[in-house]
Amino acid sequence: MTDKVTPRHIAFIMDGNGRWAKKRLLPRKAGHRQGVKALEKVVDACEKRGVEMVTFYAFSTENWARPQDEIDALFAMVAEFADTRLKEYVQRGLRILFIGDLTPLPQKTRDACTRIVEAAKGNKGMIVCIALNYGGRDEIVRAVRTLLQSGLKDVDVETLSDCMYTGGLPDPDVIVRSSGEKRLSNFMLWQAAYSEFVFRDELWPDFDEKIIDAVLEEYASRDRRYGSVKRLN
Ligand code: IPE
Ligand code: IPE
Ligand code: MG
Repeated sequence: MTDKVTPRHIAFIMDGNGRWAKKRLLPRKAGHRQGVKALEKVVDACEKRGVEMVTFYAFSTENWARPQDEIDALFAMVAEFADTRLKEYVQRGLRILFIGDLTPLPQKTRDACTRIVEAAKGNKGMIVCIALNYGGRDEIVRAVRTLLQSGLKDVDVETLSDCMYTGGLPDPDVIVRSSGEKRLSNFMLWQAAYSEFVFRDELWPDFDEKIIDAVLEEYASRDRRYGSVKRLN
């Protein structure tokens, strides 16, 4: 038997916004808009259930290959989201973190992100982490570069971990991907070493509290052995 434990950190690969829109003959950005609503439901559900950190993969280093108008719409939505819902989260005491290289983002989006991170300083609630222009390989290269520049001659797991965007934070206990795709797409390659994976067939805009409960139940039924042997009860 396994303990019924709540994961400390759940990371979501939000996928299927485009297909959700296509099914309804709507433009892809309508799917992203609905995806934001799903994210809000998921944040509320996770906070209520005592999760310490949630991460959302919102834009990958590979997503620049998309049509420019979709990219523009996505970053406009991020800026709007930061100025509205994230502001409300900050008032509620949540912590906000962005991972990824924000420098190539439109200035308006970057400013909105910086403002909200600043406003959330000192908060103690659940961490809402948003991966924007994030790539797992890019993150590892940056960490190695930081170490090289510091003049260090040797490296271990601990030092490299500390140089990741997520330095000092828990690795995801579970990585959830929506829309039936079963791959990481360059997400948290380093941090996923011992994560559990849950793949759901629902498209991201259809995610809600019920699906979160199903994910938590699935997680609780897993036996995380970390290379050791099955836990005796
Ligand atoms: C995920 O949905 C959102 C982002 C990657 C920004 P998609 O836009 O990838 O949706 P599909 O995969 O085309 O359905
Ligand atoms: C992964 O979704 C990236 C995000 C969710 C931001 P994609 O839709 O970009 O991934 P692939 O192209 O199907 O692997
Ligand atoms: Mg996709």
